[in-house]
Amino acid sequence: MKGDIGVIGLAVMGQNLILNMNDKGFKVIAFNRTISKVDDFLNGAAKGTNIIGAHSLQELVDKLEKPRKIMLMVRAGEVVDDFISQLVPLLDKDDIIIDGGNANFPDSTRRTHELAEKGIRFVGAGVSGGEEGARHGPSIMPGGNEEAWPYVKPILQAIAAKTPEGEPCCNWVGRDGAGHFVKMVHNGIEYGDMQLICEAYQFMKDGLGLDYQQMHEIFSIWNRTELDSYLIEITADILGFKDENGEPLVEKILDTAGQKGTGKWTGINALDLGIPLTLITESVFARCVSALKEQRTQTGKLFNKTIKPIEGNKTEWVEALREALLASKIISYAQGFMLIREASENHDWALNYGKTALLWREGCIIRSAFLGNIRDAYETNPDLVFLGADPYFKEIIENCLDAWRKVTAKAIECGIPMPCMTSAITFLDGYTSERLPANLLQAQRDYFGAHTYERTDKPRGEFFHTNWTGKGGDTASTTYDI
Ligand code: 6PG
Repeated sequence: MKGDIGVIGLAVMGQNLILNMNDKGFKVIAFNRTISKVDDFLNGAAKGTNIIGAHSLQELVDKLEKPRKIMLMVRAGEVVDDFISQLVPLLDKDDIIIDGGNANFPDSTRRTHELAEKGIRFVGAGVSGGEEGARHGPSIMPGGNEEAWPYVKPILQAIAAKTPEGEPCCNWVGRDGAGHFVKMVHNGIEYGDMQLICEAYQFMKDGLGLDYQQMHEIFSIWNRTELDSYLIEITADILGFKDENGEPLVEKILDTAGQKGTGKWTGINALDLGIPLTLITESVFARCVSALKEQRTQTGKLFNKTIKPIEGNKTEWVEALREALLASKIISYAQGFMLIREASENHDWALNYGKTALLWREGCIIRSAFLGNIRDAYETNPDLVFLGADPYFKEIIENCLDAWRKVTAKAIECGIPMPCMTSAITFLDGYTSERLPANLLQAQRDYFGAHTYERTDKPRGEFFHTNWTGKGGDTASTTYDI
């Protein structure tokens, strides 16, 4: 009997996905570039299972049922292209290659087209959930060549996480790089959620002077509110975790954040599409600031940086902080879905926003009860442009607004950096303003560069130029927007 699927790459995600597929009754052929890892796996974690090893790509291909399905679980970028070029000569028409890594979505679009020309079907599938998700049920976001979907669907949906209603957190996203695009936005939202939590932690620790036991308890309580989510849950665990000396381990971790690029890509994409993805982009910059450790230490001394303790009832502040976090989170997801909508229209992907929220409901890093509410919002109104306009989310924002203003203003007053919570409220203030000061900005552009402006008392699309100084000419520059 031949194998149902081949998996290349036996790092942590690859191994766990294979074990998951094996549990679900699929016969998996495993391969790794460093061949010794295949035997280590077969004699280790895969011992006693139906998993079979291959010691060359030819052997892997020979052992698979047609049309062959081969999933790459290797480092994103060149390594994927290398494996694809080695595999193509060994494959037959209609075989399927799935990339389960964190590819940049334009690469998946390119691979879909290049491989289609060779008769091979390509699927770019975002996989989220870390080691545990891969082993017991990740969220999977497949896109690319839709002809492949009926063949890979039974396997991917079987291994995926399920919602409380039993729906798989894996469904066809769209053509080309749509699957990896949705995974990229997932990661951007992950960056935003993590930074928001970090801001709340610093407010509690440096502003309110709470200790780790108190913060552990607060996050545990928050996890029983609308904030119920994996990231809040692990934060409670982390804050309660003691090292070998009985002291909080997190306090001893160097405060410089790493990043592998998916958050940055999300920000770049938002700039390209003209979407104000302010919160996620701020969260990427917050990691950049954190990485400048030496510079921060020096300027901290130069400016004699201190944080003023926050006065007042701590319990009331903690509740205000929870509300500020919740409202900011709504803005982050609202901005994320604005980006998804714009990309969908731009690339003609016809993405389904409610189904996207469903994909993230379980299994992935941003999984939360909240995503169930987002799904409901888009099911009720698929044309919803701003998530905050949905009645459920609007009510929360309105109820949280006073506390949110109080917390962000206090953070600024006391010297606690809050790039994400403040950018979120600033976005809402701008987005709900019928009139912004951009009239002055247009006047400035026209003044120095004859860039023209539209008038409030004339129809849209009619452009005017004024000779502001009496010295310039009457020639206006061409009117175009990127
Ligand atoms: C997931 C994670 C996963 C990975 C990130 C980490 O969805 O399972 O997002 O993809 O942990 O790439 O990203 P950074 O290293 O950029 O924080």
